[in-house]
Amino acid sequence: MNIDYSKIESTTAEPEASSMIETFRAIGYSVETAIADIIDNSITAGAKNIWIDYNWKGSNTTLSILDDGIGMNNDQLIQALRPGSKNPLDERTDDDLGRFGLGLKTSSFSQTRKFTVLSKAADNKSIFWSWDLDFVNQKKAWKLIRYVPNESYWTEKIESVNTGTCIIWWDLDRLTKDTSEDSEEAKSKFLGIMDSVKSHLSMVFQRFMDDGLKIYFRERLIKPWDPFMIGLDGLQTKPETRLVDGKIKIKGFVLPHRSKLSAEQYNLGKGPKDNWTAHQGFYVYRNRRLLVAGDWLGFFKREVHYDLCRIQIDLPNNFDGDWQIDIKKSIARPPSMYREQIRALATEVRNQAVEVYRHKGKVLKRKLASDEYFPFWEERARHGKRFYKINRNHPLLNDLLSKSGDLKKDIEKVIQFIEETIPVPLITLQESENEKPHGQPFEGIDHNAIKETMQKLFNGFVSSGLSTEKAKARVLNTEPFNFYPEYIEFLINE
Ligand SMILES: Nc1ncnc2c1ncn2[C@@H]1O[C@H](COP(=O)(O)OP(=O)(O)OP(=O)(O)O)[C@@H](O)[C@H]1O
Ligand SMILES: [Mg+2]
Repeated sequence: MNIDYSKIESTTAEPEASSMIETFRAIGYSVETAIADIIDNSITAGAKNIWIDYNWKGSNTTLSILDDGIGMNNDQLIQALRPGSKNPLDERTDDDLGRFGLGLKTSSFSQTRKFTVLSKAADNKSIFWSWDLDFVNQKKAWKLIRYVPNESYWTEKIESVNTGTCIIWWDLDRLTKDTSEDSEEAKSKFLGIMDSVKSHLSMVFQRFMDDGLKIYFRERLIKPWDPFMIGLDGLQTKPETRLVDGKIKIKGFVLPHRSKLSAEQYNLGKGPKDNWTAHQGFYVYRNRRLLVAGDWLGFFKREVHYDLCRIQIDLPNNFDGDWQIDIKKSIARPPSMYREQIRALATEVRNQAVEVYRHKGKVLKRKLASDEYFPFWEERARHGKRFYKINRNHPLLNDLLSKSGDLKKDIEKVIQFIEETIPVPLITLQESENEKPHGQPFEGIDHNAIKETMQKLFNGFVSSGLSTEKAKARVLNTEPFNFYPEYIEFLINE
């Protein structure tokens, strides 16, 4: 439809500066993701070194990020400080980590009410401009100010590099509001947050660090953290799958079984989230910068027996729309056309990861296969018809009944009612008509119940005189624990 705008009345409806900035503040960055967004810009600007520093002073704390990238001149800096400084639809060079023309502003405002950018481009004097939310509020205008506390200190800092840029967050209200410099509690909370910043960066920029980028945190070099533990004995690397003419690459990894890792390696594997289960899943990289750190992207739930499964997805920077990359660079969603392919690929790697995870339990099970098996349900015939009965010899039931005293008769009656009313026709119908596969016992729910019950049963067997080995075998031969051989190694002789 072609509209002739020249004949139509128009009026300006500019965004209201202070409310717009308040909205930026609500985008949902954490300190970690905010700093990572600033570092994206440094890397795009060709920085080889990045120095993060803070000066703890309670509510006057400052945090700065200095890089030795190409820097900006005055006009470029003002443009960089404009929200929407670039159009998200613009084509970007191959190695650009940006997309929206917003990150510098949104990430900074997420943490501060006032921030300054100093920059120095080749053949230029260093310059600086600041966003100050209080000033914007007062003037009701999108205006920068040329003010920063301790100006000479910061100028000296930017002069220490040939070219580069320094972001200073001051008035860190989200982190340090109303805190006093002397409060030990506030300080240690702040330091704790700084620790998680460090470990987040070690993961997000690992591949750049491996290639020589140096990120210093208070002068200390941050060490990269590789989720796939490449180089470790026993690591299984699956062949790479390529989609869209090789632009998207997917590679599965099965990490070594716990017994193959030293205590130190095992702890390292817990990653920044300090937990193997939280780190299983897909790792989505955009231009080798990590966006998603261990997530099943809605395909599967986290379950402990998939702990050894980590899958790398590499994207270039021109699929951002398709993959719904967000401003914070912390979300990526596979477009529907690849979902099934990715699911199938992941399923294969997951199955192999379970094999490795369960290996020990399985070996034990094979060794003790001759032991008697205790199913929960048994099929019986009565007057030529099929019925399902609960196995009275099942160790759990046996134990419950022997302890039930006066209640024994009642419990037996309830069990009989359950047996007589089990909806076999409904189950059969569902089984044949429903596409959803039926889950195995305890799939997708909390496994503490299984683990605790296994331990109790094991204790019972041991105190009845069975050897540890035999007791373990008996537990493994008792439904539903046969589905979870991996928990056998956690059974302890109490
Ligand atoms: N450290 C830096 N060195 C040089 N130029 C920078 C630096 N930081 C920002 N810029 C310039 O400022 C612009 C705006 O940065 P900003 O982070 O707001 O948006 P972006 O990186 O283009 O996109 P995104 O919103 O996806 O981060 C950048 O495109 C870049 O030109
Ligand atoms: Mg950016």
